[in-house]
Amino acid sequence: MSLFSGFYKKTREERITIAAETRQLSQSSMDILLADQNLSESVAGKMAENHLGTFALPFSFVPQLVVDGIEYSIPMVTEEPSVVAACSFGAKIISKAGGFSSHISERLMIGQVALYDVPNKTEAQAAILAQQDLLLQQANQAHPSIVKRGGGARQLTVEQKDDFLIVYLHVDVQEAMGANILNNMLEAIKEPLAALTQGKALMAILSNYATESLVTASCRIPIKQLHIESHTALETAQRIAKASQLAQVDPYRATTHNKGIFNGIDALVLATGNDWRAIEAGAHAYAIRNGQYRGLSTWEITDEDLIGTLTIPLPIATVGGSIGLNPKVQVAFDILGQPNARRLASLIASVGLCQNFAALRALVTSGIQQGHMKLHAKSLAMLAGAQDHEIDQAAQLLRQAPHTNLETAQAILETIRIKAEKP
Ligand code: HMG
Repeated sequence: MSLFSGFYKKTREERITIAAETRQLSQSSMDILLADQNLSESVAGKMAENHLGTFALPFSFVPQLVVDGIEYSIPMVTEEPSVVAACSFGAKIISKAGGFSSHISERLMIGQVALYDVPNKTEAQAAILAQQDLLLQQANQAHPSIVKRGGGARQLTVEQKDDFLIVYLHVDVQEAMGANILNNMLEAIKEPLAALTQGKALMAILSNYATESLVTASCRIPIKQLHIESHTALETAQRIAKASQLAQVDPYRATTHNKGIFNGIDALVLATGNDWRAIEAGAHAYAIRNGQYRGLSTWEITDEDLIGTLTIPLPIATVGGSIGLNPKVQVAFDILGQPNARRLASLIASVGLCQNFAALRALVTSGIQQGHMKLHAKSLAMLAGAQDHEIDQAAQLLRQAPHTNLETAQAILETIRIKAEKP
């Protein structure tokens, strides 16, 4: 029997012990988890300005997710009930079907220098391209350490857009997210570009639209694995494919569809100390790349399988930013087996697709409220003021009530307390 069997029914300490054993966590990770150690005051105070304290969120664990034939556990930081349960459930079904496959063709970051008041944009464009080698050299000199690590500026491209002549710099940032690297390089070539084009430089900045860091995760689930009864299994698969179609044609649905994907992606991005604003901004721009906002994932039926695919820009880092400073982020990397940036990006895309599968499966079968509210009931009970010894009973009664809301939770809690006071 798997060590993870009944994982979520165990105590926190038991879960930590199992996680440590199965993922060979270091003693330091164990200590951080057991003590629930977070950012120290001095580190937090240096990370952000006007610091008053720290702000905690649950740090959770999805036991088993198979990606490219390897089994991982996934750390997740999320405040939303049922996200971790749904990901665990989806991962279980998809792992049984062989897991996720991932594909990354390149991993470059793009930055831009925007020029305006350029007297002849076409001539300026040609002049820039003629000086490409020199400009790339100047860019690399502005951040030599990335060149030493095997990365560096690779190419310049130039486009005329409205009033602007825009120079795009394409950089291999290795294990970093690249904001500082790109910004140093772009600022170094900003004035040379203005001089070369006889124009003015408006700004020089990294773009979060990381179209050269695309990651694809896919999975193939035998339809018969979706339900014990074959006609229900087929109907579930067909309805998931229909839900995917709906997300391609209706932006109202596409937005919620993608929110479901981000339930998983953000939770892992946050756990690994990455910049979730950058990931969100880039992915939503990618979702509207053809002029209409669409679902980022698709589900289709072929022969006997349901096939899911998600392609998303993921400029992910394993170094830099707050990654080395936050003790829980170090634990997250330990749980994941210290992946490099490519591997981490593959895992993040797979988690997004997994989360999407679980949400769609629930939506097109029992409806979202059944599973989500089952777990949300505990949060509502706590919000109503339930103490530790009252939470399970209040949540159970709340799930049976016709309206699962705060008002009902408060009424239930009152009844529980009146009963408890009676001799
Ligand atoms: P269920 O069938 O009632 O679950 O589903 P179950 O009790 O039979 O357990 C099945 C498995 O789920 C378990 O396997 C666990 O892996 C996991 P086991 O270990 O028993 O062999 N599981 C749990 N894991 C951790 N803690 C738990 C727990 N319970 C079950 N307490 C479930 C219940 C919630 C999994 C299912 O209903 C589901 O996947 N629902 C989707 C929930 C969801 O997507 N929530 C996100 C919030 S809603 C939203 O924001 C997104 C959305 O709008 C996106 C969109 O519209 O596309 C929906």
